[in-house]
Amino acid sequence: MIKPWLCIPSSISHKIAPKALNLITPLLKSEGKPTHKNPLRWRDLTFPNRLGTAAGLDKEGTQVSSWWKWGIGFQEVGTITPLPQKPNPGTIIKRYNNEQIVWNKMGFPSSGFEVAKTQLLKLPQKKPTPLFINIGKNRDTTNKEAFEDYKKGLLAFSNIADVFVLNLSSPNTKGLRDLLLPEALHDFLVVKLRSFLNENNLKQPILLKVSPDMDLNQIKSILKISHEANIDGWVLTNTTAQRDTFKQAPKEGGLSGKALTKLSRDFLTTWMEELKHLKFEKKPLVISVGGVSDSQEFQTRLSIGADLVQIYSSLIFKGPGLIHKIL
Ligand SMILES: Cc1cc2nc3c(=O)[nH]c(=O)nc-3n(C[C@H](O)[C@H](O)[C@H](O)COP(=O)(O)O)c2cc1C
Repeated sequence: MIKPWLCIPSSISHKIAPKALNLITPLLKSEGKPTHKNPLRWRDLTFPNRLGTAAGLDKEGTQVSSWWKWGIGFQEVGTITPLPQKPNPGTIIKRYNNEQIVWNKMGFPSSGFEVAKTQLLKLPQKKPTPLFINIGKNRDTTNKEAFEDYKKGLLAFSNIADVFVLNLSSPNTKGLRDLLLPEALHDFLVVKLRSFLNENNLKQPILLKVSPDMDLNQIKSILKISHEANIDGWVLTNTTAQRDTFKQAPKEGGLSGKALTKLSRDFLTTWMEELKHLKFEKKPLVISVGGVSDSQEFQTRLSIGADLVQIYSSLIFKGPGLIHKIL
């Protein structure tokens, strides 16, 4: 099938894609009911199927009701930052069609919590699938002050999100990944998040989005701290800053799509192995994301132990009909 958007430069297509999606979706015969296949019941949430959209695809929830019609099982909106901010300067996205790889250096372009909240409040209160909200910090907020930004997000969306995702793993906000280092992460999750949760009765589960660029010791340390903080699960993984699989990409920024398939799959395997050694009070949720582009890889992630799987880059190359094909 011809994919006309792949002939348009990525700097333009990523801007028009959301509008195009919202224009073509009403032409679908689908009634907007999610596809029911291998559903998941986790805590008090029901996922009609195990496939979701990853963060970055719909930064502010302008496409949520369109994706329902394409059969998606859940959506992660964001990353949203407290104050509005522009993307990083220069080229921020490149698509490598032959290799099915995406490079991006976006740096959380966002309209800010207030605008996103107004947008998300337009959605029906009772949604057919769970809505995850991914929150971040503004680039001018120091790591020392970062928790304040995340705290504002937890409060701003406490009546909208079904699940929160804390993004500490984007390679495109300078120094953000330092928050995943043991001392900083302990302070963030165990000291600050726990005391915030003790004072505020937040009902939503909170997940941590993790970077794939970590060795075994780092994985063990994140798991240990997550356990101590009683985190509800993880999104594995964000884009990679490694270039082993695709040397011609620019040095800065993150790679996704096929450049990430093996890395993210192996990361999940290691994570599941290490997770076996820890006993959580309630079953944590494991979401695998990175280079999933067909039903075989989708099934592989589930068989390794992921509860849910997300996609982004493969939707760029294959279009929204991919959701039905995978399911
Ligand atoms: C253009 C682009 C923008 C992204 N923006 C975000 C973001 O704002 N927040 C986030 O947590 N992840 C973001 N991601 C990472 C994706 O959510 C996902 O973790 C990653 O792309 C791997 O999945 P994929 O190979 O299916 O694309 C972005 C990815 C791309 C390609």
